[in-house]
This record gives sequence, structure tokens and C-alpha cells, in this order.
Amino acid sequence: MKYAHIIGWGSFLPDRVLTNDDIAQIVDTSDEWIYARTGIRQRRIAGEAETTATLAFEASARALAVADVHPSQVDLIIVATSTPEYIFPSTASRVQDYLGAVRAGAFDLAAACSGFVYALNMAAQAIATGSVRTAIVVGAETMSRVLDWTDRSTCILFGDGAGAVVLKGSSVPGGILASTMRSDGSGGNLLRLPAVYHNPVPTLGPEYLGNGQDRNTIAMNGRQIFRFASHVVHASIQDVIKKADLDLQDVDLIIPHQANIRIIDHVAKKLKLPKEKFYVNVERTGNTSAASIPIALCDAVEAGRLRPDNNIVFVGFGGGLTWASAAVKWDVTPPEVSLLDREWKRTRYIMARGRSRLRRWGRRMGATLGGSPTPDARLRDADKKPEE
Ligand code: COA
Repeated sequence: MKYAHIIGWGSFLPDRVLTNDDIAQIVDTSDEWIYARTGIRQRRIAGEAETTATLAFEASARALAVADVHPSQVDLIIVATSTPEYIFPSTASRVQDYLGAVRAGAFDLAAACSGFVYALNMAAQAIATGSVRTAIVVGAETMSRVLDWTDRSTCILFGDGAGAVVLKGSSVPGGILASTMRSDGSGGNLLRLPAVYHNPVPTLGPEYLGNGQDRNTIAMNGRQIFRFASHVVHASIQDVIKKADLDLQDVDLIIPHQANIRIIDHVAKKLKLPKEKFYVNVERTGNTSAASIPIALCDAVEAGRLRPDNNIVFVGFGGGLTWASAAVKWDVTPPEVSLLDREWKRTRYIMARGRSRLRRWGRRMGATLGGSPTPDARLRDADKKPEE
């Protein structure tokens, strides 16, 4: 039996800050209203050149640098996201390419805001069976691209960002101790983001949009989602703690999905735990969906909230409906790597992107010179498009 230990972590937030006051310039709202209802003061918004894949790559490169693992040692990359640029290639395949993780398999996982915990569980199971030794699990989102910026009940909530962890198999007990995953599809309409093919170019004319039909933006019944979260989150934490053979008192820190401070306060009350047991950064990030837990984890490490041998719980909830928890023994001290060394490693990973461009160029040259209808030649035009 192999145990999956977290040995590296990293997050990345875009530079651009959008405050509540900024949003009040776009829709009829105010800083007071948003802060009182959600605990959010600001969120980050991806720049034009940034995509879910580039954010995921930056977070992964940081996590690998902390773990002191070279991309070629990675066997599996899972990116949990609801905002991929493409259905395929997956965001994970793009991250694999950017990193130069030449031996890794890669796929995306869609479980909305629970996605990171689902992905962590999948990777931990792959490690437990011995089929994978080292994995990167990422939560990454560009929610700003799928928001209806005229809908004040949703556009105030979400933000962009990415967080990643590196998992490694070890025979030493610990790491991911237990996990639970649940879904209730009957509530799917309460929080939804239609896929592109769900709503093709409107054949009924522009009036089709905004005509009560689904658009490719998030739609939510806020009250019902609040009620759903209030019912399932504390129970999910209790389930996973039991599975891990722990008591609530053994838990040092709970890192919940950062959706709304009032939901987190409600869970603390239900579990009769002090609020300090919950790590919260929603004020600065907004709801970054699948990215929120790994971003909060990195912030908690930075803030000195985690010590070796701590028991921590991740709990996610959101669209699907889905919810999931993981109990983790925070037990692996990362290798001593100086800041300079870490930055150098990160630079090396970034240089892998250059190698990837060379490979694309080589493939194109080969197809041009060979002139045969090989798969390479067929890929030629597709290769020209992405960010070159
Ligand atoms: N600014 C000012 N007023 C707003 C507003 C905003 N951004 N958004 C909604 N309102 C208004 C509504 O129009 C409504 O006005 P009315 O009474 O005149 O009709 C009033 O505020 C109450 O609306 P309601 O939707 O009932 O507000 P609420 O108290 O439920 O708060 C949320 C809305 C979205 C903050 C709250 O429902 C929530 O946090 N839900 C959970 C959402 C979540 O976490 N989703 C992600 C899960 S992963």
C-alpha cells in the first residue's frame, strides 16, 4: 500500500485586482452589500494573455520547485477546472506541455468547486494502487470569462487564480488519509454553466439571448445554493474525519472552499468549532471555484498555520451539485531549498515552454519537408493557432 503525501504546493493569482468599488461601477451594488453578504472585498482578474492553462502552469511550476521534483519525474497531471479554453486539448495537456513533463499522463476533471478535492482523491488512489508515483493536482479557473457582468447576484462572487500540489507515493503512513465524494444531480439547475455546444450560434436571432434561455455564463440560485451548502458541508467533514479514524478535536485546520464567509461561519457553528479552526482568505480572492482550496492551502502555509503532524481537512462544494472532503496528515517537511534555488528551478521549468515551441516547429518542418498526409501534417494548421 502506498500513501500519497503532499510534498509541494504553489499558487498563482493574476496581478489585476478588482475591488467591490470597481464592480459598483459596472452593476448596481456596493462594497458594504457585497462584504456583508459574502465577506469578499476584492478578487483577481486574468489579463488578456492569461488563460486557465497559463495560471495552472505557474502554480504547478511553483509547486514543483517547492517539492524539488523535476517535471520529467511527474507521472500524472490532473487539472480540476470549469473554465478550460478547450474541451480538448485538455488544460492538463497544455500544462504538461508547458512544463515539459514528458512522461506524464494528463486530463481535466470537472466537478465545479469540489473539483480540487475530487482530483486529489483520484491522484491519491492512483498512487495507492502503485500505477502512479508522482502526480500534480491543480485547481485553476478564469471565472471572469464566464460571468454575466450584468448580473449583480453572480458577478460579485467570483475571481481568477490557480493552486497546485505535488503528491508523491511513500510507504510511510500518512498523507491523504481518507476522502469522501458526493453528488446530487437533481440540484444541477441551481448553479450551472452551459457548455459551448449546449447553445450554438442563436438561430433565432440576437433576441434569443437574454430570452430566458441559457447563455454560456454562470447562472445561480444563490439562496438555494446557500441552503444546500449549509446542509452538506459539516456532514461531509464529519464523514471524512470518521473515515480517517480521527475525532473532530484531532483536526488542527479546516480549509474549506472559499465561497462565502457566512457559509463557513455556519459550518463552524454546526460543528461547535471556533472560527479560527477554519482558514479563510475569501476577502482577498473571491470564489475561485476549483482553485480556492489549493490557493488557501498555500496562503495557510505562508501564514505559518500548518505544522508537521497537523491533521487538516479540505472540504469543497458547488455545482453538480457536488461536495467532497479529504483528511490529510500534513507530515512531509519539504526539502530545504533556498529562495534563489527555487527561483532558478522555476525559471528552468519556464524554459521548458521554449522546448515545447521547438517541438511544434520541428513537427511542422517535418510535415512540410515530408509532404505526406501524416497525422503531423494534419496537425500543422492546428499548431499554428495557439499562442504563437
Ligand atoms: N448588490 C446589491 N443588491 C443585490 C445584489 C448586489 N450585488 N445582488 C442581489 N441584490 C439584491 C436582490 O436584487 C434582492 O433585492 P430585492 O429584495 O429588492 O428583490 C436582494 O438583494 C436580496 O437578494 P437575494 O438573492 O435574496 O440575496 P441573498 O441575501 O440571498 O444574497 C448571495 C445573495 C448570492 C450573496 C447569497 O445568496 C449567497 O451567498 N449564496 C451562496 C452563493 C455561493 O456561495 N455560490 C457558490 C457556491 S460554490
